Amino acid sequence: MFTNVPFPAIFVAMSNKKRVFSGIQPSGDLHIGNYLGAIVNWVRGQDAHDNIFCIVDLHAITVPQDPKKLKANTMELAKVLLASGIDPKKSTLFVQSERPEHSEMGWILNCFTHMGELSRMTQFKEKGGKKETTVGLFDYPVLMAGDILLYDTEEVPVGEDQKQHVEIARDIAQRLNKRVGKVVVVPEPVIKKEGARIMSLTDPTKKMSKSDQNENSYILLRDDAETIRKKFARAVTDSDNKIKFDKAKKPGISNLLNIMSVCTETPIIELEKKYADSNYGQFKTDVAECVIEMLKPIQAKLAEYDKNEDKVRKILADGAEAVAPRAKDTLQRVKKAVGLGL
Ligand code: TYM
Repeated sequence: MFTNVPFPAIFVAMSNKKRVFSGIQPSGDLHIGNYLGAIVNWVRGQDAHDNIFCIVDLHAITVPQDPKKLKANTMELAKVLLASGIDPKKSTLFVQSERPEHSEMGWILNCFTHMGELSRMTQFKEKGGKKETTVGLFDYPVLMAGDILLYDTEEVPVGEDQKQHVEIARDIAQRLNKRVGKVVVVPEPVIKKEGARIMSLTDPTKKMSKSDQNENSYILLRDDAETIRKKFARAVTDSDNKIKFDKAKKPGISNLLNIMSVCTETPIIELEKKYADSNYGQFKTDVAECVIEMLKPIQAKLAEYDKNEDKVRKILADGAEAVAPRAKDTLQRVKKAVGLGL
């Protein structure tokens, strides 16, 4: 019953750089959780890896979208990624729906995925279960697995909330390899400890999210300095006035330490020492200033891209073309292994 497909040549690394793939949804304004949890790691890892980054608009339509807004959000996200330092000379950036292989791969993988394992996905349990929940939302992790497996990805840098989805991609890959012969690479999630979970500023037990009703809970990448200062000044802390990392007892202060640590690339332990004699007011002001400084060059570049969207369109079109051979190759290999076609 098992056909053994010989280990394909594509698996032999072209260079010793690891293949990295990650994706992000164009679902509205970007916040520092997306930036510190994911984008900053993509940017900082660019030289060491062979990178593909994807704007996953097919994932965005798993919940209702205004078509005009979705298009605008796709452009906005591309500008943010480029302004954040994704360099088209080092990384390939493209829009998921521009490569039909993603949907086709997703379908094949659907047939190697069990209903039970998708029902256990935490994010689906949180967001799904309503009368209007789409099949797409339920199936979302399989499309994500398709994204990852299409490019023989070795590492997937994500925030903590996506870990379970990368794990199911591993399970699907292993099942496929077991059933039809080794045909896809089994990926690994890469989650940096600091930044993995940036929490809401108003309720630090919840992750920072753009779907939060309270706009003081998140810092948007386009927020101006005054707004950022105000939001941090209002950030929820505790009453013991000690700047110490303790997620369980001091979630607010721990979140601010985390944010400062990733922004300044300084270990939390050093920040604790630096602020041992400071009060919360001073600390919050300094965290706000770090974030403002971090965002300044990004916002300046964003303003340039705002004036040159054609350049962004060209980068995305080139990206979709550049990944085509890899995507087609893997899909063909998988189809053959599964027994599709003649
Ligand atoms: P998305 O668009 O929700 O989030 C993009 C990235 O941002 C991270 N993130 C956070 N990190 C820390 N703290 C937060 N508060 C926070 N909020 C978001 C996420 O972990 C993620 O890394 N399904 C994915 C997109 C996707 C994908 C893929 C990712 C589609 N295909 C293939 C990797 C590989 C998603 O919805 O991420």
